[in-house]
Amino acid sequence: MKNTLLALVGAGLLFGTVAANATPEQDRQNLIKYFTTKYPDVKLDKYVFGALAFDPDSMAQYNSIMDFPPFSTVVDQGQKMWETPFKNGKTYASCFPNGGKNVAGNYPYFDDKAGKVVTFEMAINTCRTANGETPYKLADVATMGTLTSYARTLSDGMLMNIKVNGPAAEAAYAVGKAQFYERHGQLGFSCASCHVYNAGNRLRSELLSPAIGQSTHWPVFRGGETLVTLQNRYVGCQKMIRAVPFAVGSEEYNDLEYFHSYISNGLALKASVFRK
Ligand code: HEC
Repeated sequence: MKNTLLALVGAGLLFGTVAANATPEQDRQNLIKYFTTKYPDVKLDKYVFGALAFDPDSMAQYNSIMDFPPFSTVVDQGQKMWETPFKNGKTYASCFPNGGKNVAGNYPYFDDKAGKVVTFEMAINTCRTANGETPYKLADVATMGTLTSYARTLSDGMLMNIKVNGPAAEAAYAVGKAQFYERHGQLGFSCASCHVYNAGNRLRSELLSPAIGQSTHWPVFRGGETLVTLQNRYVGCQKMIRAVPFAVGSEEYNDLEYFHSYISNGLALKASVFRK
């Protein structure tokens, strides 16, 4: 494993560097240009399928599994949670514009008053506490994960629409971007080593997905049954490179998610999908 990883780091070094002072929009455009130049046959709207976009066999498997998803009972359970009134009689729908439809693509956003990035999961917890309920643990798949496996489907088809306005938001975005490009762990990897410079290449048996599109389809069900949220996946990738992961819901991960979601702006959301 270690040798393959080191070879990949070497390959990553051959490619261009990142402009530290580019605007978010320049970052997004640069990434699109990088990927579409390298893979002219993969259409931009296919990036939401991650590594599957580079492998017709896996894509066919995905399509047949998504016809009858083995995890649909979990999403149904999430729907029940979403629709069950709080003790005060109100529901989650009352906390979001449009009853929670087509909202997830606006998250994370930068809350100027609070001075921090707010994720969809945090907004759900704010809804709970505002209605006299206890907040869920952000990393708990049985509660928050299951609830969002349905709540996020209400935004299926919405285009990712992250905004970075003003110096404080820009600073949070810059922290997230640095997280993505800085090398971590004993093996000296950055997220970009695998998901920019080596996207479309294989790491052992796994094709590496490109950074754009990665934030559009959460949670996923790995192997068709294990629910994994986006920030749970960050933990998994950090462990893979033997870095000490941050906590789900930490400011570090929220800023990372902010950057990571921005670069998928314009791509269509679809929650609760199959992944290997
Ligand atoms: C050593 C290579 C490596 C590094 C470094 C790495 N990952 Fe991954 N990552 C993988 C592999 C392998 C997968 C599973 C195949 C795939 O979808 O890319 C994966 C999957 C993902 C996925 C899920 C994609 C999907 O569509 O299901 C996300 C999101 C992700 N990584 C984010 C990150 C972030 C953020 C970082 C930095 C904290 C990171 N990764 C660092 C190897 C890596």
